[in-house]
Amino acid sequence: MNLAKAKEILDEGGLVGIPTETVYGLAANALDREAVTKIFKAKQRPLYNPLIVHVSDLGDIYSLAKNIPNEAFQLAQEFWPGPLTIVLPKKQSVPDVTTGNKDTVAIRMPDHKLTLELLEQLDYPLAAPSANKYKAISPTKAEHVKQAFGDDFPVIDGGQCSEGIESTIVGFEGDTAIIYRHGLITGEQIANCLNQAVTEYNSEKIIMPGQEKKHYSPRTHLIYTNDPEKVFIDHAVTKTAFIQFSDKEYDTHLVDHIVYLTKENGLREAAEKLYETLHELDNMDFGLIVAEEVPDEGIGKAIHDKLSRAQNF
Ligand code: TXA
Ligand code: MG
Repeated sequence: MNLAKAKEILDEGGLVGIPTETVYGLAANALDREAVTKIFKAKQRPLYNPLIVHVSDLGDIYSLAKNIPNEAFQLAQEFWPGPLTIVLPKKQSVPDVTTGNKDTVAIRMPDHKLTLELLEQLDYPLAAPSANKYKAISPTKAEHVKQAFGDDFPVIDGGQCSEGIESTIVGFEGDTAIIYRHGLITGEQIANCLNQAVTEYNSEKIIMPGQEKKHYSPRTHLIYTNDPEKVFIDHAVTKTAFIQFSDKEYDTHLVDHIVYLTKENGLREAAEKLYETLHELDNMDFGLIVAEEVPDEGIGKAIHDKLSRAQNF
């Protein structure tokens, strides 16, 4: 679908799938209550889960947020356009439905040529969660969006997402930065940029979909483990796929299919391939997917977090 057609649908309060560098988004006019409500319906997402608002210009945050700490500008200047979402106190102009009734709004400038071009042509920012049904695997290709919402669903095809996992989400308590969701921009990078320690949001309270225990799940059973050989033996009669991260030599004779997330232990490459691999294996009729544990550090934190939640066995 071309940008002109997408603009027409969005101007009329409709939904369009948009490419970003992280994952595809399910977009609507962020300032139009009715349009935003359609996102929640299509995704089957509970109304208390706030959406991310996408902008193409740093100045746009003034029309969405107030009392913006200096640190927010420092981060935006350093990492935008890019996979960082910044949570700020919201202005009244942002409808409550967009922010799940919170008094904060999450904002990001995505790094994708087509979507930036589209945003520049619109008179409003775009609210867009990942374009998957609630709790399913996030989409990294236009065809994933069509698989979830139907062949006729309008999607701007921007090719495969270059980064492959969702943005890091950061907010502030006073001047202190708090990470709400791990992503490609690490806590260390944020701390370095701000020259201060950052806190991890660490609560038992489930207030965000990315923090619910089960999420990002394939339909196929998935076990995430640091002892894959034991799992192969325990499930020897099951048709099994193995997602390997490390270059360890496992006895894989009980495994039917192996996918390497990276050739050189590269966490970036692993992040890029993660959802793509899960989608592919999920369509291949395995009885079980076994995923090898990824180191819980740097970008690995985000991958580890997603695979822990994808586990459904
Ligand atoms: O990379 C991304 O961030 C992608 C692309 C499309 O931009 N979007 C994305 O959206 O991952 P979604 O809806 O799947 O995840 C948005 C996350 C949720 O965990 C939501 O709770 C959190 O952002 N969020 C949104 N507004 C928030 C707020 N005001 N305070 C705290 N968290 C917020
Ligand atoms: Mg999502």
